[in-house]
Amino acid sequence: MTAAIIDGPIIDGKAFAEALRARIAIEAAKFEVHAGRKAGLAVVLVGEDPASQVYVRSKGKQTVACGMNSFEHRLPADCAEGALLDIVERLNADPAVDGILVQLPLPDHIDEQQVIAAINPDKDVDGFHVVNSGRLSVGLPGFVPCTPLGCLMLLKDRLGSLSGLDAVVIGRSNIVGKPMAALLLAESCTVTVTHSRTKDLADVVRRADIVVAAVGRAEMVKGDWIKPGACVIDVGINRLPPADGADKGRLVGDVDYASVAQVAGAITPVPGGVGPMTIAVLLRNTLVAAHRNAGIELDEAAL
Ligand code: GUN
Repeated sequence: MTAAIIDGPIIDGKAFAEALRARIAIEAAKFEVHAGRKAGLAVVLVGEDPASQVYVRSKGKQTVACGMNSFEHRLPADCAEGALLDIVERLNADPAVDGILVQLPLPDHIDEQQVIAAINPDKDVDGFHVVNSGRLSVGLPGFVPCTPLGCLMLLKDRLGSLSGLDAVVIGRSNIVGKPMAALLLAESCTVTVTHSRTKDLADVVRRADIVVAAVGRAEMVKGDWIKPGACVIDVGINRLPPADGADKGRLVGDVDYASVAQVAGAITPVPGGVGPMTIAVLLRNTLVAAHRNAGIELDEAAL
């Protein structure tokens, strides 16, 4: 782990992600020498969703910039589920492919769970396969979803040991809330997972040393919900309605930054906090997969 990137209470995820990518590039070059090939990430995009296209382009560029191969597969929005499953099968069998990511969301006629289940769990760098959620929950090595793993890296970089801290996770999604809770529990935090039916949410959050907000509701968490000095990780990316005359609204998180930053000991901004971590952790997971699949040692904890 690098030294903490300290900028007052602000946790600079952009700088942390850059430093992580630099470490990945060094290890990717060593991998190429030892394995006689580059590590490879395959990304499959179905349809033309503009946000997904931006994500996929960015993933491809960053993969290549870190010295790994990027393979892109595009299918039309009306493709048959079988055609997508055939591609996944080919990627499972391809020794040049260490990591497979099927960009979500998929069109409604395709069963997302079925597609995720078809990915070889040892190439599932998204960490979405039930085998990997099982491994996470029992503490076996596997792959952890990129966003919560990125949040954990930021927390450990800022706080050091998390042992014994009270953590509140707001949101119970399979992609962020549940794996985040499992990761914090593995760090010996006392973890509470809250959701839309939680009673007295503000009171629950007020007990937390660590707050991870992942609900998708703009600026929901207010300053008077926060224990003074708490570390606040904001996973939300919400666009506000445009102000008069503007063509786009501002991007904000699930946390009301202006009020929470007055009270918190540390806080991730939006943008520039958790967001930049997600792709960097995806590249990390791909490099880890490449080492495991090739039987080459890697100090995963140092990455
Ligand atoms: N769509 C938006 N973010 C992600 C991600 O991290 N993984 C996948 N597979 N799809 C996404």
